[in-house]
Amino acid sequence: MNADELLLTAVRKCRRVDLYADPRPLTPDEQKEYDSMRARYQNGEPLQYVLGECDFLGSALAVNPCVLIPRPETEILVDTILQKLKSSKLSKPCRVLDLGTGSGNIAIALAKAIDPCHVTALDISEEAISVARCNAAANGVTEKIRFLREDMRESLVANRAWMKNFDCIVSNPPYIKTSALDHLPRDVQQEPRLALDGGADGLRFYETIIRRVHQYLKPEGYLFFEIGDGQAAPVEALLEKNPFYRNIRFYPDHTQTDRVVCSQTTLSVCEQKDTHTWKSW
Ligand SMILES: C[S@@+](CC[C@H](N)C(=O)[O-])C[C@H]1O[C@@H](n2cnc3c(N)ncnc32)[C@H](O)[C@@H]1O
Repeated sequence: MNADELLLTAVRKCRRVDLYADPRPLTPDEQKEYDSMRARYQNGEPLQYVLGECDFLGSALAVNPCVLIPRPETEILVDTILQKLKSSKLSKPCRVLDLGTGSGNIAIALAKAIDPCHVTALDISEEAISVARCNAAANGVTEKIRFLREDMRESLVANRAWMKNFDCIVSNPPYIKTSALDHLPRDVQQEPRLALDGGADGLRFYETIIRRVHQYLKPEGYLFFEIGDGQAAPVEALLEKNPFYRNIRFYPDHTQTDRVVCSQTTLSVCEQKDTHTWKSW
């Protein structure tokens, strides 16, 4: 659908086919709403924010300027995770940690696809957590996801009681270099800086996560990242520097750019007890 069709179906609350099967003029209220949405779009606001919604792997998710608009590249990340987990021995329920959940897109897609599973999804932004909670409810997976408003840099150091024995830890962290933020396309600049700013070299979050999370994964547990253009080599170097990771693999996006990285913890990763803290939520 083109932008006009999307705006018209949103205003008329109908399907695309109805625009042509029943091509009636808009009512005055509908016209007012359409004009206002179209003006926002023409002023450079991302269409998904104007519509208040986007599609992620077939699920409708609410979005607003407090959350990053989920990207098609992140669908590749989720597909890769599901492929890998399908052929692995997982806990029942499978335990997943999503660092920087934003709209909740990754957590929700995994919760819908993996049964049984328990996902912990955290974000530093209170507003993002509230959008993600609504999206989980709208997609019927509230019971499978625990949302936490936390700064991952603190949680990963604090070694909280529940942070143990994950089968899979995933993150699509902020990964744009700070110096590049002001040169991003106008619509991307309207997304939260908090969701984009990866520090001076864009690698700040990968460094923190790679340094810390092996202790929260089961032996042979999976760590998945989405990465930015040109970040495959530095992220690989960070993983290789840590003796607890092995089997580092990259997966390309539709432009054949490495977009997803997967690695596994070694068998000898620090001894961990199965505490099953889920019961004490
Ligand atoms: C690139 S966005 C990814 C959002 C979503 N997971 C997705 O794939 O579309 C990164 C997310 O990390 C969150 N974030 C940034 N700094 C954080 C921190 N220190 N601790 C936890 N979350 C953080 C942002 O608020 C944002 O929602």
